[in-house]
Amino acid sequence: MVVRLENVSLKREGKWILQDINWEIRHGEHWVLFGLNGSGKTAMLNILNAYQFPTKGKITVLGMEFGRTYLGEKLRKQIGFVSSSLQDKFYAADNAFEVVLSGAFASIGLYETPTDAMRNKAITLLKELGCIDYANRRYETLSQGEKQRVQIARALMANPSLLILDEPTNGLDFIAREKLLESIETIAAKSNAPRIIYVTHHVEEILPVFNKTLLLKQGQVFAAGNTTEMLTGKTLTEYFGLPVNVLWENHRPLLTKQQFVSDTM
Ligand SMILES: Nc1ncnc2c1ncn2[C@@H]1O[C@H](COP(=O)(O)OP(=O)(O)OP(=O)(O)O)[C@@H](O)[C@H]1O
Ligand SMILES: [Mg+2]
Repeated sequence: MVVRLENVSLKREGKWILQDINWEIRHGEHWVLFGLNGSGKTAMLNILNAYQFPTKGKITVLGMEFGRTYLGEKLRKQIGFVSSSLQDKFYAADNAFEVVLSGAFASIGLYETPTDAMRNKAITLLKELGCIDYANRRYETLSQGEKQRVQIARALMANPSLLILDEPTNGLDFIAREKLLESIETIAAKSNAPRIIYVTHHVEEILPVFNKTLLLKQGQVFAAGNTTEMLTGKTLTEYFGLPVNVLWENHRPLLTKQQFVSDTM
């Protein structure tokens, strides 16, 4: 078991942000965490990273039970977390190579001397993620898509057991998005790949390698299970409260709103 949440609830300022969440991630599963704006996705990730403690419930991540001991740092070394919300935290003047290397120490900035093995690994990852050409460029000069790739390479430096990608295609154009998704697919397909949680509110981004999906709605699990069973017109029509169709092309889903007669007039 990689992650187990049992009846997890989170209350902030008198409001229940998450309610009775039950979720299990097992070896061999890659998950999509799908939810509309404000549904509680970021709150869930903050809990998984031990940045926030639930008001109620029990959490075990990578065999560690929360609340028994202080887990923050020990846990986070085993979780790769990629989020556009973190981008501003990296030192603008560090180059992409240094940002990736810093992942080995789970630090922002480089304070320790990296070993040759670390340097070689960083170069391999920069190549794998297609960012070797700008390895020497200052992080602040990179485009949004390039920064995301560098961040994923950084997250993989520490050989995480769990990789969390929080809306990694934010701000990317169609080509950049598809290229990034290709890289994610390559990472996920490896035999020694970490378990991946891919957080999104776009159905079109869900790759076939994500075999499980949790639909989060207003802080509650609306449904969870096999992706192909979650992403159906029937389930998503109920989820959105709006009639939708799901078309599949090359094992990728495409969401369309059902046309009403009044729409076409
Ligand atoms: N400290 C807080 N106090 C009160 N409400 C909060 C607090 N933190 C989050 N919320 C609320 O909890 C809900 C869930 O927020 P969260 O950021 O987890 O949503 P999200 O699914 O990540 O949305 P998005 O797709 O927009 O990033 C929102 O309505 C948000 O306003
Ligand atoms: Mg969010």
